[in-house]
Amino acid sequence: MVLSADRGNGMTRRITTFDEFRDAVSAYRLPRVLLAGLELDLFTAVGERTWTIAELAKELKVSERGLAILCRNLAMAGVLLKKGTSYKNSRLGATALNANHPTYRGSYLGLIKSHWTDWFRLLESVRSGLPIDHDVPDSPDWRRQFTWAMHHRTLETAPAIAAQVNVRQAKTLLDLGGGPGTYAMAFLAKNPQLRATVCDREAALDVAKEIAATHRAGRRLSYLPLDFAKESIPGAYNVIWYSNVLHIYSPEVNQAIFRRALAALTPGGRFIIQDAFLHDREGLYPAEASLFAVSMLLFTEGGNTYSATETMRWLKDAGFVRVKLLRVKKRMEDWEDGILEAVAPGSRPGRTVRRVRSKGSSRAR
Ligand SMILES: C[S@@+](CC[C@H](N)C(=O)[O-])C[C@H]1O[C@@H](n2cnc3c(N)ncnc32)[C@H](O)[C@@H]1O
Repeated sequence: MVLSADRGNGMTRRITTFDEFRDAVSAYRLPRVLLAGLELDLFTAVGERTWTIAELAKELKVSERGLAILCRNLAMAGVLLKKGTSYKNSRLGATALNANHPTYRGSYLGLIKSHWTDWFRLLESVRSGLPIDHDVPDSPDWRRQFTWAMHHRTLETAPAIAAQVNVRQAKTLLDLGGGPGTYAMAFLAKNPQLRATVCDREAALDVAKEIAATHRAGRRLSYLPLDFAKESIPGAYNVIWYSNVLHIYSPEVNQAIFRRALAALTPGGRFIIQDAFLHDREGLYPAEASLFAVSMLLFTEGGNTYSATETMRWLKDAGFVRVKLLRVKKRMEDWEDGILEAVAPGSRPGRTVRRVRSKGSSRAR
């Protein structure tokens, strides 16, 4: 496969020949097969059993011919296992893709499914410069569903990040735009001295409360309903964690939020941003960060993905000092080289994870 956004090294093989172009365009085939499996809720139907095509076709009320070809391709991709003429779930199919399993990630799968039809409308947004559904208000129901999707998205990543971003010196952390609070909970679980606050919209905070109620550390979590793109942030925190929000807003709105965040930090407090940063001179790579900007075109009024260098400049302009890129282990990160830290002027902060470069990385020119 030619055009793969390899999250391991951020490199994408460039398309130079017609055959490579054709192969890149034809890459929609496997995603379409995988989504057909999800849309049929096939992995839930297969469950723990082994099925012949005839049995499963009856169960799913589809044709045997159609299902045989679909299942063969799902097995080719590895999400089903084939033995002779029978099929069963792979480990992934039986767990995260199976609605009857406790580790089912249904909300996030729902979001992924809806993206197929959304991306089909890309040209509308390219023509207008506006999100595809720009007149549809953000309903509490939609926000709730999206917040669960965010929880299912970062279930594994958040504890891995919290294990590497050192907040041992901090007593208070604000998870700004924290949604389900999955990151806040992960920091709380790792740091018994810490108290955290999730700041978000009411409907998102309702989900965060439900999730926190199932964790012991949830007792150290509090909630701040606020529109931080418009209002100042009350309080004085040692750390503000701003994860996956930067890309939603224009540079101007982000810079205003940076100033509000600075005002809500104690002297020496740390503002830590996690996002899909671009790291090369032309702002093309990692591929995943460029592709994510397309989602922002489809879904937001002014969002985009930004280079680490320009974001560092905005942070310094807002008054932050000691701005740097933090390194976490490859494949245990939300985005490749996706964490920046900036410090509020004042006393020296505690140590964080290993510093990469203090004046912006050479990959972040
Ligand atoms: C993409 S989600 C990220 C959730 C979480 N921080 C993470 O990294 O998984 C963005 C969150 O920011 C919240 N958000 C965005 N703009 C906001 C604003 N102006 N005021 C309050 N919350 C906001 C959204 O409601 C949503 O929960």
